[in-house]
Amino acid sequence: MMLKGKTAIITGGGTGIGAAVAARFVAEGAKVCIAGRRESVLDETIKSLPKGTAVKCKGDVTDPSDIERIVKTAVEFGGTVNVLINNAGAGAEGSITGTSIEEWRRIVEINLVGPFMLMRAVIPYMQKAGGGSIVNISSLASLRAIPHGNAYCTSKAGLNMMTMQAALDFGGDGIRCNVICPGFIFSEMTEGRFGQVAKDNNIDLNTLMLKVFNDVPARKAGTPDRVAGLCAFFASDDSTYVTGTVIPVDGGLSIMDPFPLCVKNADLSINAEK
Ligand SMILES: NC(=O)c1ccc[n+]([C@@H]2O[C@H](COP(=O)([O-])OP(=O)(O)OC[C@H]3O[C@@H](n4cnc5c(N)ncnc54)[C@H](O)[C@@H]3O)[C@@H](O)[C@H]2O)c1
Repeated sequence: MMLKGKTAIITGGGTGIGAAVAARFVAEGAKVCIAGRRESVLDETIKSLPKGTAVKCKGDVTDPSDIERIVKTAVEFGGTVNVLINNAGAGAEGSITGTSIEEWRRIVEINLVGPFMLMRAVIPYMQKAGGGSIVNISSLASLRAIPHGNAYCTSKAGLNMMTMQAALDFGGDGIRCNVICPGFIFSEMTEGRFGQVAKDNNIDLNTLMLKVFNDVPARKAGTPDRVAGLCAFFASDDSTYVTGTVIPVDGGLSIMDPFPLCVKNADLSINAEK
């Protein structure tokens, strides 16, 4: 029960990593407010959790009035906000010239402006409570450029620096800010992306997966609960001297020479863009 007495906001809490974080946090004694755009998936997550441990708030992280409602819902439910997990995110394919201005702005709004607005809204509650923990879910693509991923890589790299900068400004208030960079984690997002690449290249999904995961030191994809475990550590009082960090959860992929993997992925996604 490492999170007993804590209230957390988890964005994108209806699916994948967000739903796994909600389950782990509740198991550790926290109260959670899960936010996202799709009511049906939020309802499914709420149904899977013990009564009275979770509340949902339908909302889009790019909408300032939804941000206000999300924070208000959490405070009414749990009394304050001790933990924020900025997990909602969206991927996009395209180089600079292959991305429309509208699409680039949309990705930056979801992956960077949304987390900024939520941090801005919860920090006063954390200051009043004498501290708090903010975890921003970035990506390995924030540390390594991936082919045809300009908006995604750029927005996630911005998220890393925003987190580190905030760790500096609010450390004196007992507020810790850390980044998690997932590598390959099975979720709706990755299934969709890999499924499409496999289809476009006429290969079966399992063959594609074997090709990709052969280059990961752990030789497998991660699962959402692996990311949830690190979120629980960051949210807990076991990590009170850990702030401003950027930690990959990637089966060791970030220590690899990226060249062979990059070339394989580049070939696949160039084909996918044709
Ligand atoms: N799965 C991976 O391999 C992987 C790798 C690197 C980074 N990530 C990051 O992890 C996070 C979670 O992704 P996931 O893998 O669980 O995929 P996912 O698609 O299941 O989760 C993303 C969630 O964000 C929500 N969302 C998107 N736009 C939103 C908006 N404007 N407002 C509110 N909610 C919105 C989606 O509805 C969804 O519930 C994302 O930030 C993603 O970039 C995932």
